[in-house]
Amino acid sequence: MDFGIAGKVALVTASSSGLGEAVAHALAAEGVKPILFARSADKLRAVAAAIEQRHGVRALAVPGDLRSKDDIERLIATLKQECGAPDILVVNTGRPPLTLREVLDETEDERWEDAYRTQLWGAIQVTQKVVPLMLPRGWGRVIAITSASVKQPTPRKGLSTIFRVGVTAYMKHLSTEIAASGITVNSVCPANINTPTFRSDSELQARRTRVPMGRLASPEEFAASVAFLASQNAGFITGQSLVVDGGMNATLL
Ligand SMILES: NC(=O)c1ccc[n+]([C@@H]2O[C@H](COP(=O)([O-])OP(=O)(O)OC[C@H]3O[C@@H](n4cnc5c(N)ncnc54)[C@H](OP(=O)(O)O)[C@@H]3O)[C@@H](O)[C@H]2O)c1
Repeated sequence: MDFGIAGKVALVTASSSGLGEAVAHALAAEGVKPILFARSADKLRAVAAAIEQRHGVRALAVPGDLRSKDDIERLIATLKQECGAPDILVVNTGRPPLTLREVLDETEDERWEDAYRTQLWGAIQVTQKVVPLMLPRGWGRVIAITSASVKQPTPRKGLSTIFRVGVTAYMKHLSTEIAASGITVNSVCPANINTPTFRSDSELQARRTRVPMGRLASPEEFAASVAFLASQNAGFITGQSLVVDGGMNATLL
């Protein structure tokens, strides 16, 4: 299937590993030029080099921290200089603070602040600054990567659920406000995708037993759903949250 997005430019945040990296590869495989943003400069440049080698498209690495206003300003300045505006924005973020706790045990302001800035503040800052640049084009795709916990909370992951629900709400508002602009806005909600998030064999095994499909997904399998939402084919889908979790979520809607 031709996704019809060859030659377009995509900003993919939190893309030095895991889901963000896989999404950048999936888009590059469709001929999209990715702009990568994450803190680890060396890892980010290695991902950009791998994308250029494997897919033959230009990939640009912009090292920076989603929690930093200065870094986001620098990212926006680079975007303007490089392409004016991206056609596709994939808002991925870092993970919540470890170790996981029940909400009444979340008593440290630093953990709340870190979770808020990494998962919600940074996502909104980037979207808020990039979408106005996209609007004059009359075409665009905004896709936020959240978590399946927005539909069904996972125990001891309150610091994730609380802020990702905020991202979901922001994206829903945005999708309605700019629905007539040609820019679609959706969220993809992962669970059980086999990235460096899962460290030990025992954790992996415990995960597998909770997934109705009896397995985890590869990052590439997850990234294919993001690439679809970025495609021309998904032009009438907006304001949605697509759960990609191997059937774990028990909610009806
Ligand atoms: N894998 C799953 O099944 C699953 C399930 C539910 C939710 N999620 C969520 O999906 C997102 C991606 O997950 P993943 O499994 O791919 O995690 P991962 O492999 O740990 O990747 C996280 C990415 O975020 C970047 N990052 C972290 N903090 C950042 C910051 N402050 N500024 C900029 N970039 C930052 C990291 O790069 P640097 O360290 O270089 O900055 C890395 O590229 C996370 O928010 C995760 O919680 C994943």
